[in-house]
Amino acid sequence: MALPVRESHLYIGVSNRVRYTIYMTKQTILTGIRSNEEPTIANYLGAFVPMVRMQQELAGEYQINMFVPDLHSFTTPVDHDDLYAKTLMNLKYFIAAGLDIDDQDTYIYRQSYIPAHSELTWVLDCFTYVGEMSRMTQFKDKSGENSDSITMGLYNYPVLMAADILLYGATYVPVGEDQFQHLEITRDIASRFNNKFGDVFTVPLDTKAQTSFINRDSGLRIRSLSDPTKKMSKSATDEKSKILLSDSPEVAKQKIMSATTDSVGEIHYNFETQPGISSLLQMYALLTGRKQEEVNAQWEGKSQYGEFKAVVASAVADFLEHFQARLAAISDEELLAKLERSERAMTEVANQTLLRAQQAVGLRPRA
Ligand code: TYM
Repeated sequence: MALPVRESHLYIGVSNRVRYTIYMTKQTILTGIRSNEEPTIANYLGAFVPMVRMQQELAGEYQINMFVPDLHSFTTPVDHDDLYAKTLMNLKYFIAAGLDIDDQDTYIYRQSYIPAHSELTWVLDCFTYVGEMSRMTQFKDKSGENSDSITMGLYNYPVLMAADILLYGATYVPVGEDQFQHLEITRDIASRFNNKFGDVFTVPLDTKAQTSFINRDSGLRIRSLSDPTKKMSKSATDEKSKILLSDSPEVAKQKIMSATTDSVGEIHYNFETQPGISSLLQMYALLTGRKQEEVNAQWEGKSQYGEFKAVVASAVADFLEHFQARLAAISDEELLAKLERSERAMTEVANQTLLRAQQAVGLRPRA
């Protein structure tokens, strides 16, 4: 696949109102994992794996931003006594997943340590419509019945996410399928702003281009183990529905063995008719690095659900064992040193973008 052209000190242009200069050295690939709950194997496969793979394959060509959206982490209730520790733990998970923090083009940071995220959100809020936010599926799903207890934070979540992406001019944003709508709204907000004020923001690529960039045919949606018509969610209260990255290999095995499948009696890879079995086939292929077609062909038409589950359970247990060993070896000092360096560097990048937006709307004098 042809990779996009790399630009160096790119002069973006002049609109009839504002003159902008955007300095970019490399295109940015960016993603974030909230620290609201313990991450699951779905977060690992949906977001950590593509980022780490891109870092390994594209080292030197792209800038990699991997951050913890800690401000997003309490849009729904959390235990605030644990939030800070969970944020640091998430950063460790990035490293345990294989992210090389010695790479000079890789930045890790905490969203709340870079105030431009909150400031740009306000500016973008004033160019985002209430109707658009009300239509966000995730907002509708999470807000449930009782409108009195839905926070403005949950409602405004996608605008903060847009700021996270636009501040760094990210072109690629590897996320699971559940975040595609938020990516599309980011593109809408950025385009609307650019149409009004000139080329202030880099508009991230659409979801089709995003999935083909990471060599997938479609967005990834790992299913809940107890109800495979739903996605596996780290905030689900049913512990059996999810494999946590902190689960012991034994517990994880049991969860896979008791995963809901179906009564068809034969294994087929078909998410419409057999979502449980198909999700396990998918998880197995992704964890072992084997081609999906190869895994499917091996099990196609077989009736031994128990045997198949045992194979998946053992792959999950192996993965967790290695992952947790890498996690235990991470040095806090190295992590914090990298974090502080990254946060300083990214504050500068974010502030440059914020300034362009502030100039555009008339909060700062135009150059
Ligand atoms: P979070 O923490 O809820 O999810 C983190 C990542 O995991 C993906 N994911 C899944 N992938 C496959 N199957 C699943 N069942 C599954 N569940 C979750 C999510 O799609 C996500 O990629 N809003 C983001 C956090 C965020 C962000 C950003 C991401 C805030 N600002 C800017 C990218 C860019 C989220 O849902 O996090």
